[in-house]
Amino acid sequence: MMKTEKILRHSNTVRIIHWLVAISSMLLLFSGIGQMPMYKRYNVVLLPGLYWVSDYNITLVIHLIAGAIFGAAILYHIIYHLMQREFSAMPRNGDVGESIIIIKAMLTGKEEPPHDKFLAEQRLAYAAMGLTSLVLLLTGLIKVYKNTGIIILQPDFMTVTTLIHTIATPVFLFLFIAHLGAFIIKENWPLFPSMFSGYVNKKYADHRHPLWDYKKNK
Ligand code: HEM
Ligand code: HEM
Repeated sequence: MMKTEKILRHSNTVRIIHWLVAISSMLLLFSGIGQMPMYKRYNVVLLPGLYWVSDYNITLVIHLIAGAIFGAAILYHIIYHLMQREFSAMPRNGDVGESIIIIKAMLTGKEEPPHDKFLAEQRLAYAAMGLTSLVLLLTGLIKVYKNTGIIILQPDFMTVTTLIHTIATPVFLFLFIAHLGAFIIKENWPLFPSMFSGYVNKKYADHRHPLWDYKKNK
């Protein structure tokens, strides 16, 4: 029997960093929302084993540990891709128009335009998720700095910082759900296992990503 030829899409490093970001951001969402009086109000605390979720001291510790992992993984991601000179997920001119064409093609069953390593809409989503993550990281670090009590920051500045951190949370949640939602679409199914195994089928890559120079993985 012929063995299916595979193409490397995500290196071990990319996969480890991706899953560290994914797991830490789920913990951050859960513990951050827990710091607002949500879980008691909506009776989440009554669910079996979840009596502790409205305990501020517990959710704060989870938030800080997950925040440290999230921050370290994002910093590593930026340095790694700069050193590898690997910018295939960065948005390009014309990505908005091309995304509309791709969505229309998916809905009508027409042929999609040829893709590079990532689809135009993936590049836009990357920019939005990256930017929101950086905003959460930066405002989060300012909040940690303030909490240490080493310096007193202007109350107005802290109000704005907290407001940005809080507003960025539903934005992040929306982008997170959209990122997962992309894999409901059948055309994207072959990409899903690649974030676990690292590989996609060569046949799929040649057919859907003809602009991707996978020999250089760029
Ligand atoms: C996915 C990323 C994140 C999400 C969704 C998130 C969400 C939240 C939410 C909803 C709150 C409660 C409301 C508020 O105070 O604004 C909060 C508080 C806080 N977050 Fe985050 N956060 C994230 C990342 C971070 C990071 C990376 C850090 C720092 C390393 C951080 C540090 C803090 C601190 C210090 C507080 C306030 C604790 C207090 O003083 O009561 N957050 N976060
Ligand atoms: C349970 C949560 C998650 C799942 C199941 C998931 C799944 C995936 C999958 C299957 C891919 C591969 C897509 C492809 O090959 O084109 C991917 C790529 C990616 N995901 Fe996620 N993801 C999750 C959470 C996140 C989060 C929270 C972020 C960012 C804050 C994120 C950022 C990315 C990025 C940047 C890529 C492109 C990776 C690269 O550089 O090659 N993901 N994700």
